[in-house]
Amino acid sequence: MSQLIAHAVSMEFMRKTRTANFFVAVAPTDFEIASGQFIEIAGHSGSGKSTLLGMLSGLLPPTSGEVLLDEQNLYQLREPDLAAVRNERFGIIPQSNTALQSLTVLQNVLLPAVIAKKPAPEAKARELLGELGLAPLMEEKPEALSGGELRRLAVARALLMDPDFILADEPTAGLDSENIGIVLRMLRQRADSGAAVLIAAHESQVAQYADKVLKMDGAHLSPS
Ligand SMILES: Nc1ncnc2c1ncn2[C@@H]1O[C@H](COP(=O)(O)OP(=O)(O)O)[C@@H](O)[C@H]1O
Ligand SMILES: [Mg+2]
Repeated sequence: MSQLIAHAVSMEFMRKTRTANFFVAVAPTDFEIASGQFIEIAGHSGSGKSTLLGMLSGLLPPTSGEVLLDEQNLYQLREPDLAAVRNERFGIIPQSNTALQSLTVLQNVLLPAVIAKKPAPEAKARELLGELGLAPLMEEKPEALSGGELRRLAVARALLMDPDFILADEPTAGLDSENIGIVLRMLRQRADSGAAVLIAAHESQVAQYADKVLKMDGAHLSPS
């Protein structure tokens, strides 16, 4: 049983506003997710979803508050240990494309295993790509892929290591409804087999797969 807990995490960016020299992207927020749960954070663009997800993913140290992974304060880990957590225990799907252009699609999916210095689970990578409809594109470079295909590549890469936590930022953006269904069913299945799945999304198809939907609105998270 794994747990990710945020205590009063907040993020302020240095940016002049009408009333201050900083801008509050995420107000102090409590959040928790455990193995087996599928939670959606819904909300308009600019509400703070990606910033909150970044703090929970070990990518963005909060201005205040703390993030605990099974009682270990994430941001007190040394950077190599934090990087190993992100690579091996978290399956992170960033909002933007992070595929490496010099690698093929298949090599990109295998990257987490290479970074972890583990034997490349090539059969598994091929199977994930097949499930996501990318089998014919495996040997292509990412530049040959459409936006929706790159999204699905990111899903395959995030699932490769069977992470305890899947932290997905708009994983279905730019996908047609058939592929949205495929991706969301894959993520639901991971939650049913014990992963914790957190999705930030501004479209609503995610809600029907989620155990819980929270709403982000103007830097504040609340039950929907
Ligand atoms: N690095 C940054 N510097 C300054 N402002 C930022 C930065 N990142 C995000 N913001 C601002 O924080 C707010 C929330 O952004 P974000 O978390 O990306 O929202 P969402 O994912 O809900 O669209 C936005 O107003 C955005 O402009
Ligand atoms: Mg976002």
